[in-house]
Amino acid sequence: MPASVPSMRRIAVLVSGSGTNLVALLEAIAADPAFGGEVVVVVSDQPTAGGLEQARRRDLPVAAVPLADHPDRAAWEVALTATVATHAPDVVVLAGFMRVLSERFLRNWPDRVLNTHPSLLPAFRGAHAVRDALAYGVKVTGATVHLVDEQVDNGPIVAQTCVPVAPDDTEASLHTRIKAVEHELLPACVKLLCRDRLRIEGRTVHVLPEELP
Ligand code: GRF
Repeated sequence: MPASVPSMRRIAVLVSGSGTNLVALLEAIAADPAFGGEVVVVVSDQPTAGGLEQARRRDLPVAAVPLADHPDRAAWEVALTATVATHAPDVVVLAGFMRVLSERFLRNWPDRVLNTHPSLLPAFRGAHAVRDALAYGVKVTGATVHLVDEQVDNGPIVAQTCVPVAPDDTEASLHTRIKAVEHELLPACVKLLCRDRLRIEGRTVHVLPEELP
């Protein structure tokens, strides 16, 4: 193992939807002995999320923490935090997790929570980024992977990739092409975090060069 990777980082993945980004991450890890991390749990706010099913098929530990099972958001977030913390992750990846997390959750993993978002932030924050970009008439949109802070889709940007908008794009067709980009970008950024290659200076994320073995 290279000197720059002291140990395998434990990764928790949070999903709300189909889980194609989760699958891309799992495949990237499986294909790369130098990835430096392993997924130790997949957690969802949606008990029927496709992402949980993808994890079950691979015999990964899963947990569902539905908002409706708790009296309020604060209680839900306490339960979510406890569930994730049980698996002692070093890194938390939001792979299509459609809930906002507060300091209550984030303080447990400072600068170690990553999110993927289907636009070129800071344009088109929020849950309808692809629809909003189309409605605005942009000719280029894309994907952003960023560190998560308390504001929605706001934290320091790790990497971005452009996706041109086609004249006949629908929300579904454009989102499919953006997801294809996310499937490369998110695992690449998770690997950088696992290998301790990100340095954060204010809003700027520096990517450190790979140390030679
Ligand atoms: C991704 O486009 C992600 O950026 C957004 O939700 C989508 C999740 O897709 N927040 P999937 O569940 O990984 O297929």
